[in-house]
Amino acid sequence: MATTRQPLVAGNWKMNGFAVSVSELAGIIEGAASLNGKAGMMVCPPATLVAAFAGRAKGTVLAIGGQDCHAKENGAFTGDISAEMLRDAGASAVIVGHSERRQYHAETDADVSAKAQAAWRAGLMAIVCVGETRDERVSGKALDVVGTQLAGSLPDGCTTANLVVAYEPVWAIGTGLTPTAQDVAEMHNFIRQQLVARFPAAGEGVRILYGGSVKPANAKELMGVPNVDGALVGGASLKAADFMGIAGVYR
Ligand code: 13P
Repeated sequence: MATTRQPLVAGNWKMNGFAVSVSELAGIIEGAASLNGKAGMMVCPPATLVAAFAGRAKGTVLAIGGQDCHAKENGAFTGDISAEMLRDAGASAVIVGHSERRQYHAETDADVSAKAQAAWRAGLMAIVCVGETRDERVSGKALDVVGTQLAGSLPDGCTTANLVVAYEPVWAIGTGLTPTAQDVAEMHNFIRQQLVARFPAAGEGVRILYGGSVKPANAKELMGVPNVDGALVGGASLKAADFMGIAGVYR
């Protein structure tokens, strides 16, 4: 019997958005409701906006997530935010291990694993990101690289509800470039195999999102690939019309 996984379309706003951006949520909330549960939707705003966005989305089907968290619950870590704080602000999920965190903040697989555990400790779903660079893809190492990232970044103890994996090839982020449907299929199938091998009970039900230059124009093809259970969207999630042009493929 095939496992059914509810697709998820999540928007990563990165370092974009001001208080006024709450107004953009009206269209996203309306759009999320129009999917009638065929897919879930989430917006991950910068930390300054999590509480305001969660307040606006309360009582709707739109989930709100953070973009990163510290591994510890509290303490002398100036500038950092804990998973418990995100939860307190109204988030139900947090992205960990995004390539921009790995690249600009030198986060290792072990760091990412500790952050995913922190998310679970706080009752948040962890969206764990993996993906190869252009050089790694060209030299034929993409599967090896992602396999190593998965092994090191995923803690034991996942469930279908507390873990989502996002495959985001670094070279496809913000570039307008995307892998071929065949390459996406190969990678997502590989990630599925890794999940099932390591987590026999949950592996088949964990959602695997594709991220990297997802736009309304390519969403249908990318979301139609086997084992692609939704998208992690950057730039095209900032405007409700574009974001719904992507999530709308699940209507
Ligand atoms: P873009 O959709 O802007 O390429 O960003 C993808 C991403 O990094 C989402 O986390």
